[in-house]
Amino acid sequence: MDSTSSDDGAQYDLFAEAFEVHAEDSAYNAYYDRPALLDLAGDVRGLRVLDAGCGPGLYSQELVDLGALVTAFDESTEMVRLASLRLGDRAVVRRASLEDDLDWIEDGSQDLVVMALVLSHLDNRVRALSNLARVLTPRGRLLISTTHPTSDWLRLGGGYFEISKVEETWSQGWRVQSWRQPLERWCAEFAEAGFVIQRLIEPRPIQEMADPYPEYFETLNREPGFIAFSLVLAQ
Ligand SMILES: C[S@@+](CC[C@H](N)C(=O)[O-])C[C@H]1O[C@@H](n2cnc3c(N)ncnc32)[C@H](O)[C@@H]1O
Repeated sequence: MDSTSSDDGAQYDLFAEAFEVHAEDSAYNAYYDRPALLDLAGDVRGLRVLDAGCGPGLYSQELVDLGALVTAFDESTEMVRLASLRLGDRAVVRRASLEDDLDWIEDGSQDLVVMALVLSHLDNRVRALSNLARVLTPRGRLLISTTHPTSDWLRLGGGYFEISKVEETWSQGWRVQSWRQPLERWCAEFAEAGFVIQRLIEPRPIQEMADPYPEYFETLNREPGFIAFSLVLAQ
């Protein structure tokens, strides 16, 4: 079910600047997903880190600040422009699609790949994951965050086991297409691409969310919004 061709182009081009302003300080990005993934990353000093689908470069910026050697890419020209502005010469930033070959990245050259909130937007997920498997070192890790399948089911209705591409208009008015599918299907795609799950996290918001966003803080301590994985290459 993962291989219809994409007809949406770089959907984030249309609202890249607004996304950057939002994600810098939003409940779900700044107080929930970024802390969870950066915590999973651990000590990145001196590591070669690939930020796949980097958006405006918010993860890259934190990773660089923590001492990582970062290469970042995104399919959206606007996102790449914003990430380049943010990172300057502190990281390599370029435009590329996860669903293309990534032949500009050497085999086995990356210690860590971070792919935050990108996977559900991809039609060719196994291909993208296989590309990332190729560029990882043998002991490297791929960190992924995505919408929790239970959250998709509660929000979208229908059957939990449904596999479909949905279009939603987010509260900011942005129209976004993404895939919904059950947890077992996400995990099957990881395996198909050559990964095994090292850790699975159902993040909780950090305490700092409580003051600016008390309602989200309460909600996200009660029910999952996102899910995160640390994947390693199958031996
Ligand atoms: C929700 S944003 C997340 C951005 C960033 N990772 C963050 O969390 O701040 C999703 C990003 O995935 C990018 N994206 C979607 N499809 C992609 C593809 N095929 N290749 C590379 N990037 C892609 C979008 O352009 C967008 O910047």
